[in-house]
Amino acid sequence: MKNNSPLKIAVLVSGSGSNLQALIDKQLNQSLNINIVGVISNKSDAYALTRATSANIPTAIIDKDDNGKQYTRIGFENQALEILKAWQPDLVVLAGFMRILTPLFIDGVTVGMAIPMINLHPSLLPSYKGLNTHARVLQSGERQHGCSVHLVTQALDAGAVLAQAIVSAHVNDTPEQLAQRVHQSEHQLLPLVVDLFVKQLITIKDGKPNTALPLALPLKLVLD
Ligand code: GRF
Repeated sequence: MKNNSPLKIAVLVSGSGSNLQALIDKQLNQSLNINIVGVISNKSDAYALTRATSANIPTAIIDKDDNGKQYTRIGFENQALEILKAWQPDLVVLAGFMRILTPLFIDGVTVGMAIPMINLHPSLLPSYKGLNTHARVLQSGERQHGCSVHLVTQALDAGAVLAQAIVSAHVNDTPEQLAQRVHQSEHQLLPLVVDLFVKQLITIKDGKPNTALPLALPLKLVLD
């Protein structure tokens, strides 16, 4: 990345894309010096695609091959790698991307192309990896929940955590209410972390994060 030129970002999505929207909004109002060079979805009906198209961002749907057959995991990953090679992003962001990635893709991006890749996860990692985090947090009686942005490594949801936003889990919360609060926190946390990459306050060397901040990683944002 050249100094002051926007950080080129590719975003992988599977669903609604409200976190993609948070990035698009900040690109458009120029509060984030980024250029979203493309959005890849493994679902043809992901609303995130509509959001990208409305903002004139190129999209790639990788769900079925030329014969109408669902892509295998490896088939998807090979296609996605080719697309990323063409787009040449500086950063790959998984924002609601709901497909487990294999080392073929993860190493292909982070080692082969030397592009850092980050994921947004709806829990305070290392607690509550995997799915259904909100219901599991409530079942355990936790009073704190939130979201994390972490480096993507081969182990699921286990790469170095860069930043977390903490929200309260209330006794009477339903999983949906808690999910909504976490979602809002994600819309703040993800752009903040991307901005740290833009400003080179976080850099990745040999798969490990370095920070020029006077604060240690992970950064913690307490939102209520
Ligand atoms: C977010 O909660 C994210 O943490 C999880 O999937 C959800 C995506 O939401 N991985 P959206 O598609 O950005 O609205």
